[in-house]
Amino acid sequence: MSQSKDHWSSEAYSTSAAFVPKLAQTLLQYLDPQPTDTVLDVGCGDAKFTEAFLPAVGSVLGIDASPSMIESATKDYAGPNAAFRVVDCCYLEQDTSIVNGTWDKVVSNAALHWVLRNESTRISTLRAIFNCLKPGGMFVFEMGGHGNVGEVITALTYSLLQQGVSIEKARETSPWFFPSVDWMTSTLESIGFTVENMETEYRPTKLTSDKNGGLAGWVRLMGAQFLEVLPEGKRGATVQQICDVLQTIVTRQEDGSQWLGYVRLRGVARRT
Ligand SMILES: C[S@@+](CC[C@H](N)C(=O)[O-])C[C@H]1O[C@@H](n2cnc3c(N)ncnc32)[C@H](O)[C@@H]1O
Repeated sequence: MSQSKDHWSSEAYSTSAAFVPKLAQTLLQYLDPQPTDTVLDVGCGDAKFTEAFLPAVGSVLGIDASPSMIESATKDYAGPNAAFRVVDCCYLEQDTSIVNGTWDKVVSNAALHWVLRNESTRISTLRAIFNCLKPGGMFVFEMGGHGNVGEVITALTYSLLQQGVSIEKARETSPWFFPSVDWMTSTLESIGFTVENMETEYRPTKLTSDKNGGLAGWVRLMGAQFLEVLPEGKRGATVQQICDVLQTIVTRQEDGSQWLGYVRLRGVARRT
């Protein structure tokens, strides 16, 4: 089953958010790619992160809900040991060709805070990941953690309220779930995983220059679902207002560069 609307554009992603896959060095160390590994990459996007471990493993299947991202991944990286498929991972358990207890590793970078947003499918998705793995298989992930981009969420919410959107609607509109170490550890353990590592890192992250989208490009791409509750004619001015509200907090005095307060949650859990 695929999402009704594709909020992602591989082109906008590579312009405004190319830093995302490049910041995953610790995750790659935890993945510890081996030549015999079969790896499932959940929320693979345009596969720029997948590319970083593809040459070191046996085979990879990248899955993502966005047809635009999968088209780009397939064009650039599909080959004898790499395939990419459109799958809405909120309903991963329905795909028995993937959820088959045979994978050595399931990896995910910067995607699970979207995938796990919906409370009603959150646990079934994590259970499906467990059921993908062979006994002894490893789930390795990095995602937004509790407090991630708190300044942006505050500014987005403020701007929606200013446009007459109710606070309940504004909260409901948020496309993200940023869990804590405690939530993720206890949830994975309740599913049957043995959690080997769970950590958060405050990682201020530099945005691209204005020429490449900058803060406005980030807000338009990552905050698309927030903005969608507004009539199209009001979105441009709202993005401008959000950038104005954020200006002081995200801009560094020394060189004018702009940084967001990313908080990452990283974990390694094993199906024992
Ligand atoms: C920030 S990108 C990360 C892409 C890639 N993992 C990387 O490191 O560059 C987030 C990805 O999550 C995907 N995504 C969001 N919701 C999803 C869902 N329900 N099922 C599968 N993929 C989803 C998006 O389409 C997008 O490609």
